[in-house]
Amino acid sequence: MGQELSYIIVECGSKTARLQLDSFPILIGRDPANSIAIDDDEASRFHLKIKKRLSTHIVHDLNSKNGTLLNGKRISNTVLKNNDILTIGKTRLTFFCTVSIEQSIASQLLEGKEVRFEHYTRISVQQLCSKGEASIDERAMQALCLKMTRIYSIDLLASKIIIYAKKQMPNCAGATFSLWDEEHQQLVVAAQRYWRGNHARSSKALVQVISRRCAILASNKNMQVVILPVLLFAKVPIAMLQLQFHTRQDLTMLATIQLLLQRIVSHIEMLSRRNAMQRWSISMVNSIAKIIEEKDTYTMGHSQRVSNYVAGIAATLGLDDDTTHNLKASALCHDVGKVGIPDSILKKGGMLDHDEYEEMKLHPVLGADIVSHLPNAKSFVSGIMYHHERWDGTGYPDGLEGESIPFFARIIAVADSFDAMISGRSYSGFMHPKDAVAKLAQSKDIYDPEILAAFVKAYRNDLINLKSDTVVKKL
Ligand SMILES: [Fe+2]
Repeated sequence: MGQELSYIIVECGSKTARLQLDSFPILIGRDPANSIAIDDDEASRFHLKIKKRLSTHIVHDLNSKNGTLLNGKRISNTVLKNNDILTIGKTRLTFFCTVSIEQSIASQLLEGKEVRFEHYTRISVQQLCSKGEASIDERAMQALCLKMTRIYSIDLLASKIIIYAKKQMPNCAGATFSLWDEEHQQLVVAAQRYWRGNHARSSKALVQVISRRCAILASNKNMQVVILPVLLFAKVPIAMLQLQFHTRQDLTMLATIQLLLQRIVSHIEMLSRRNAMQRWSISMVNSIAKIIEEKDTYTMGHSQRVSNYVAGIAATLGLDDDTTHNLKASALCHDVGKVGIPDSILKKGGMLDHDEYEEMKLHPVLGADIVSHLPNAKSFVSGIMYHHERWDGTGYPDGLEGESIPFFARIIAVADSFDAMISGRSYSGFMHPKDAVAKLAQSKDIYDPEILAAFVKAYRNDLINLKSDTVVKKL
């Protein structure tokens, strides 16, 4: 049985996004404090909640003004299943809980949902390609491939592929681009546009595509679905593009789409592997953060808040997405080494004596060692190892000074101290955030002055999120 992965595709106007559901409950609504905040004036501020009990997902409407529709019917409290469509105002949310294709087929047969297409026809893409190649503008295709291989987000690349397919075949009613997870035998939707009906309705055809390594046209009197596999070395399936049509189609233009997919197959594979690795690392990092919270209840929510603050500093400094994600992971794990500190020291009410303090000072080194086993540890371990170093060289473990302190550590140091001040863990007791920011702003000898300035700016621009209920969703 495959590992479960749940996510939601949000479609609102021309915007679409895929959001992985890592931590429950999930709150959805207009208010920015929601786990998924939607820009839809017909949605209530806090519209609905998705909870998870064992492996069951439950959706609750939070007495919203305009109600919540599940597959077109108004609901208040019900179980959410794979491929269910929730409608909130103008926003469409498609829920996915991935299972293996075989499981998916079995569950649909049990529920009588499987739609049997009348015909399953193998499409010879090779033939189409040889027909289509003559009509292809080679220079335009090369330029397109170059553009596609400069995209480093699999979700964005998948969206671009769908847009290109729709441009080539304007009658296409809906499209889905999914990654094939060979290890777990699962399809993971990376992007989807205007797809109507049950996503897995063509699962029988999908099995054929996977097992026969060929493109399939599945059709009945209402619909045609083309499933185009992306094959590495012409035999290893790594992704699939599905196109939905309501009328009979000339499939010649599939050739150009197939050519594009063939030429960027290595790039898709690289991004797909990176995506899988990141998913694994995200769940590890979140587990680590939970372990720290369990161990050190005194600092409940601290790691998550610090992770939120560094995101605000990163936005102000203009850091790119990848760097920001690594920085957030580093902040989330910065105190992980505390799992190696005895409870008698960690949970001591009063001041630590000299020996106890020396023991406590080991936590950055212990933390760095713990995360060093993660596959992408190099990208965020510096923030864990050096977050107690100080700009003037008075910190630990190595007494580094100025810019010799790694960049992530300099940012986490500011965010960490701010949280200590506002949560009463500093010698000054509880401080109002505004006072804490003012006090930090005067500590230019202790913290990197440029990062301090960015922090103050972020706070003034409302980018310092003081809540502690978020988790890292991307690395
Ligand atoms: Fe620390």
